[in-house]
Amino acid sequence: METRAGDPAAFARFDLYSVPSPAFVVDEAAVRRNLAIIRDVRDRSGAKVLAALKAFSMWSLGPVVAEYLDGVCASGIYEARLGREEYSGADGSREVATYCAGYKAEDLPEIFRLSDHVIFNSPGQIARFRPQIEAARAAGETFDVGLRINPLHPEGEVAKYDPCQPHSRLGFPIDQLRPEHLEGVSGLHFHSLCEQDFQPLERTWQAIESRLAPFYSRLEWLNFGGGHHITRDDYQRDELVEFIREVRQETGLTIYLEPGEAIALDAGILVGEILDLIDNGMPVAITDISATCHMPDVIEAPYRPAMLHEPENGPIVRLGGPSCLAGDIIGDYRIPGGAEPGARIAFLDQAHYSMVKTNTFNGVPLPAIWLWNSETGTLREVRRFDYADFRDRLS
Ligand SMILES: Cc1ncc(COP(=O)(O)O)c(C=O)c1O
Repeated sequence: METRAGDPAAFARFDLYSVPSPAFVVDEAAVRRNLAIIRDVRDRSGAKVLAALKAFSMWSLGPVVAEYLDGVCASGIYEARLGREEYSGADGSREVATYCAGYKAEDLPEIFRLSDHVIFNSPGQIARFRPQIEAARAAGETFDVGLRINPLHPEGEVAKYDPCQPHSRLGFPIDQLRPEHLEGVSGLHFHSLCEQDFQPLERTWQAIESRLAPFYSRLEWLNFGGGHHITRDDYQRDELVEFIREVRQETGLTIYLEPGEAIALDAGILVGEILDLIDNGMPVAITDISATCHMPDVIEAPYRPAMLHEPENGPIVRLGGPSCLAGDIIGDYRIPGGAEPGARIAFLDQAHYSMVKTNTFNGVPLPAIWLWNSETGTLREVRRFDYADFRDRLS
């Protein structure tokens, strides 16, 4: 899979020796630049925009996200709580929209308390939990109910990342949608894109619009999910704005977008260090960055993360992590300055879907989290992890 970002931007002048290794370093100025672009799309189109916490939930930046966007979307009870506690904004007015493929009855009272929108994956769960929904409302909770639909219109490059793949569990198949499924439902949600341009969204809408038209008068909102690469330089933002205006006019509904990756695109790096070098038919270096523990998408997607300052010429070195997994391989690279033990390296575009996915398999230490501001030059450690973080996930 090709990743479409990887611009070093201000990291081109970041001193890799100014932080401990390994460390995620996020540039607040780059996050603000992304947020400002999204805010502009929001303002011009009249859409509401929620930040998808699953992609990037560095909550020390929660107040910054709240300055620009309408709130967050959460994947379940923990993200909903994080959203409410850390992303509510100075006036506490930001929204939390929670969608989960399957809710547990015991979590629902808290999810209802934390959320403005609770989006279910099937009419079956809505019907089963109707008594809890009514009880929560009777007790004073204010939230509305949404239903995720599956557009049955695949646009993904890779089936693994396509919620419209055959037999997908994500969203209620739109061809089964009937009026009775919308009893007590205020909005419909779909999410079927991944790192995509505007046209796949437009085509998806064209594929489903006639099926949804009969229901507009019963609804208040439509949520077009995430996967919109809005902040990429060549994304068709004007077309998106125009499209949302038209859909708002045609449906009379509030339109939500919930991008995740676009908020943190090209806004963070993962700094690592070469620990050792051997030769096994080619130069092989062990680093303190583990693909499986720190960048699992490298193996899962799979993809090859771009390296900061990678030269065009020079010997190719295979980089891998310190874990026991034979496949803990980051990829083959030319190392800037040469592959010497102690040399620092950095992988680009690691703010999203890396920090949220780290784990401590083999007891591999977690990277520290640092916040840099490329405009002011400030650099501070936000969080350092130690043995207790490893131990306390186990018992
Ligand atoms: C329901 C939902 N909303 C939003 C997103 C965010 O998508 P992205 O980070 O690609 O913008 C995802 C990603 O999987 C998702 O599943």
